[in-house]
Amino acid sequence: MATDLDAPLLRESLPSLPARAYLDPLSHERELRRIWRRHWICAGRTEEIANARDFLRFVIADRGVLLLRDDQGEVHAYLDSCRHRGASLCASERGRFARAAIVCPYHAWSYDLQGRLLRTGSRHPPAGFDRDAHGLRALPVRDWSGFLFVCLDPDPPPFAAGFDQPLDRLDAWRLADCVSAHRTVLTIACNWKVFWENYNECLHCPGVHPELSRLVPVYGRGLLEAADDPDGRRTGVDGGPAPGDGLRRGARSWTTTGEPVGPEFPGLAEADRRAGHVYMTAMPSLFVVGHVDYARAVRLRPLGPETTELRVDYLFPRQTLAAPGFDPAPAIAFAERVLGEDAAICETNQRGLRAAPDGQGVLMPEEYLIRGFHDWLRAEGAID
Ligand code: FES
Ligand SMILES: [Fe+2]
Repeated sequence: MATDLDAPLLRESLPSLPARAYLDPLSHERELRRIWRRHWICAGRTEEIANARDFLRFVIADRGVLLLRDDQGEVHAYLDSCRHRGASLCASERGRFARAAIVCPYHAWSYDLQGRLLRTGSRHPPAGFDRDAHGLRALPVRDWSGFLFVCLDPDPPPFAAGFDQPLDRLDAWRLADCVSAHRTVLTIACNWKVFWENYNECLHCPGVHPELSRLVPVYGRGLLEAADDPDGRRTGVDGGPAPGDGLRRGARSWTTTGEPVGPEFPGLAEADRRAGHVYMTAMPSLFVVGHVDYARAVRLRPLGPETTELRVDYLFPRQTLAAPGFDPAPAIAFAERVLGEDAAICETNQRGLRAAPDGQGVLMPEEYLIRGFHDWLRAEGAID
């Protein structure tokens, strides 16, 4: 992204966004236009359309998108809107086409899986009707580590620009080969930016996340990393995470016991193993964190100005999932507790915004990532 997410602590008191940016339907529509219809958005995992003719229907910024895999194994994305009079082509969120065709349920126009119009339901093809000009509208689609991204803009921004880390940062986790052991879908009553902001500061951790704060001592101090301490150190002596960034002594993963629930990923850098968590963000829709034994992906999308959907996947290597006696419950239970605490506090944040006395709040020094986020929103023309 255009903003330096690794900016230092804020040195001065800066205003937060105006409260109306989290409430107003017109502001929301502007964000849909400037952010959600212009950037690469994570729409699913490749394993959700693992086989030929599998499809997935997903709504981004009020636009239905059809993701499918053709008989050659290639993934395509189309606007889910028939070129006849605009009907949605799929009734269900996911499934498999019985044959290599998409048939509109309204007047039976049919398209091949490459989006070409095959036939119309009309007995009288009108003069001048150009079948080739009436194929499904294809959207740019990319596969990153098993996450499928689509962009509603036919002229998308550079793919890597939305990530806060190099695209290979989590390669050691081999996420493309991982599958989800569990998915939680949660709708929370807050603006999507409230959740984004919550995810990117830890001032709330001591009060909101007592268990997480015990697992990650630096969070218990209200800091994202030890280097945010006033002494100003930002890296460890060996260039790795600053001392104290990692998990409490003896703990190795984000689980209820601190013990991994499966084998550690081979080939993790020593610094990453010691840290116990490695974060990566794809603006604006995906947060991934790698632990030594699993990775967690949180996808978010706005459903309305004050409603946000979260989809959380717990990703493990296939062989870990298939191992006899494998039980991911301690990982899921731990993360779900943290997620539930965040969801509740985000709703609390949202409820209070209507009464914000000055129409906006203020950012504290530790909230530098939020400032970077706001700068990005402004640069994208999403906030006036
Ligand atoms: S709207 Fe699809 S065939 Fe008429
Ligand atoms: Fe939190």
